[in-house]
Amino acid sequence: MGARIRLTPVNSQKIERTLILVKPDGVRRSLVGEVIRRIESKGYQVVGLKMMTPTREILAKHYAEHEGKPFYEPLLEFMLSGPIVAIIAQGNRVIEGFRKLAGTTDPTTAEPGTIRGDLARDQGTKVVQNIVHGSDSPESSAREIAIFFPELN
Ligand code: RTP
Ligand code: MG
Repeated sequence: MGARIRLTPVNSQKIERTLILVKPDGVRRSLVGEVIRRIESKGYQVVGLKMMTPTREILAKHYAEHEGKPFYEPLLEFMLSGPIVAIIAQGNRVIEGFRKLAGTTDPTTAEPGTIRGDLARDQGTKVVQNIVHGSDSPESSAREIAIFFPELN
C-alpha cells in the first residue's frame, strides 16, 4: 500500500477581494479585455468594474507609501496621462493570486506567462509602465477599494 499523500489544508473561508487597476498604458494599448480575460480565466470573479480618469488627489492617496521616492512624481504623471479601469476581483486568495498573474514590477524580467512578462517591456520612461496594479495585502486591498469605489462604503 502506498504512503498517504498529505495535502496542505486549504482554508476555504479565505475569500478575498483585491483592487486591480488597468493603468493608462494598458488602456491605450487596448489591453482591458485581455487583463479581464486573464482574471476570469484563472477563475476569479469580477465584482466591480469602472473606467475613470483619476484625480491627483485620488492617486496621492493610493500611492501614499511611495511619496518622496524618486519615481513618485513621474508615477503620478503617468497615472494621470489617460483613463484607467478599476476592477474588484474576488476569490480565495485572490490578492496573492493576482500578484502572481501580474508578474514582478519590472516588465523586462517579469516571467513570460504573466501579464507584465507577456504584454509589457521597458519603454525607457522615468517610471516603469507595467499595465496593471494589484493590491499587495488584505489591508491594502481594503484601503484601495475604499479609494476607488467609495460608493461601496
Ligand atoms: P503595483 O503597486 O502597481 O501593483 O506594482 P508593484 O507593487 O509591483 O510596485 P510598487 O513598488 O508598489 O510600485 C508602484 C508602481 O510604481 C512604479 N515604479 N516605478 N524604479 C521605478 O521606476 C519604479 N518603481 C516602481 C511602477 O509602475 C510600479 O508598479
Ligand atoms: Mg504596489
